Amino acid sequence: MIVPNRIAVSPMAQYSADRGCPTDWHFQHLGALAVSGPGLVFIESTSVEPQGYGCSACLAMHDDEQERALSQLVQRLRAVSPAMLGLQIGHSGRKASARLPLDGNGPLPLDEGGWQVFGPSAISCGGGWPVPQELDEAGIARVRDAFVATASRAARLDLNLLELHGAHGYLLHSFLSPVSNQRRDAYGGSPENRLRLVREIVVAVRAVWPEERALGIRLNAQDWVAGGLDLADTIGIAAALKEAGCDYVCVSAGAISSEAKIPFSAGYLAPYAAEIKRSAGISTIVTGGVHDPHQAEAIVATGQADGVAIARAFLDDPRWTWRAAQALGQSVDYPFQFMRAHPQRWPLAPPRAAEPVEETSRRRVLS
Ligand SMILES: Cc1cc2nc3c(=O)[nH]c(=O)nc-3n(C[C@H](O)[C@H](O)[C@H](O)COP(=O)(O)O)c2cc1C
Repeated sequence: MIVPNRIAVSPMAQYSADRGCPTDWHFQHLGALAVSGPGLVFIESTSVEPQGYGCSACLAMHDDEQERALSQLVQRLRAVSPAMLGLQIGHSGRKASARLPLDGNGPLPLDEGGWQVFGPSAISCGGGWPVPQELDEAGIARVRDAFVATASRAARLDLNLLELHGAHGYLLHSFLSPVSNQRRDAYGGSPENRLRLVREIVVAVRAVWPEERALGIRLNAQDWVAGGLDLADTIGIAAALKEAGCDYVCVSAGAISSEAKIPFSAGYLAPYAAEIKRSAGISTIVTGGVHDPHQAEAIVATGQADGVAIARAFLDDPRWTWRAAQALGQSVDYPFQFMRAHPQRWPLAPPRAAEPVEETSRRRVLS
């Protein structure tokens, strides 16, 4: 897959869907980003079945109306942008049924309109989250079929890439991790058994997702919790999933349980991505704390990762790619409608890249 550059807009849930369908908000959010130069734009995590919704306003694609609406969104993005388009699909597992951000996040109980949550074992992720119902064999088959059905729908859309959400403590991650998976059947116990569901999903999705389009999975670099997955485990998982049909791993971090202590810092996952890339022999995208263009450039130039997926810096500044090009002395194509703001056409442009730090922080405080 050839991308115009190695900058990706990371998937970002907008909590703005209407019965799983994207709304005007999604188009303005993704449209503004897609016309601002990133090589790849991800559409947020899209649920494969109703039980998998993170909250009631999450995107989903398990019925025809949702497929039609997502198809329209993709077509509208294509009409305005040369960026490659990716879709992330997932299932929130034991972290499903959350309150909307405006209602304070956290678990939404059944008696307030929440829904039954499922996991590999009847173990809560802590922090007041409910104990999930353990998926039985029929439930596991249902989830696997739901991923395949959503991937088949995605294959009918004009997308370049599909990513499975296997991180952040959601359903697939919770099967991989011994912290949340204490099953005694073929889907738990040994590393191979804990990997079984994800591997089956990758193989089955690969069979319906066109060969010439990329398939990846987002994985936690590790769990950062006692008894959880470490980097060596993740390397083993990545190597097995490459074998099963994944083209890349997006290396990320997110809590498998309320005990997790993730050591956030700028670019902290790049060394993990490098090790996974080297040891598992798979392409990597790294996400988390990459917002300095020089650091992003160093990550891809030194081969630590094949791409960087940036989230909050794009919410802060949808034209982050333009700023990165300026900071690195590169040029990036502007849409003709925006050409009069191009540095070469606007000599009196405010010197944003060279702005003094005090000035930047003062403005942030004021806004
Ligand atoms: C508003 C918001 C929504 C997010 N939604 C998703 C999502 O749907 N899927 C996912 O894998 N990560 C999601 N993330 C995580 C980001 O993709 C990203 O990996 C994380 O924010 C770290 O990158 P950053 O430091 O550049 O923000 C979300 C992050 C934010 C800020």
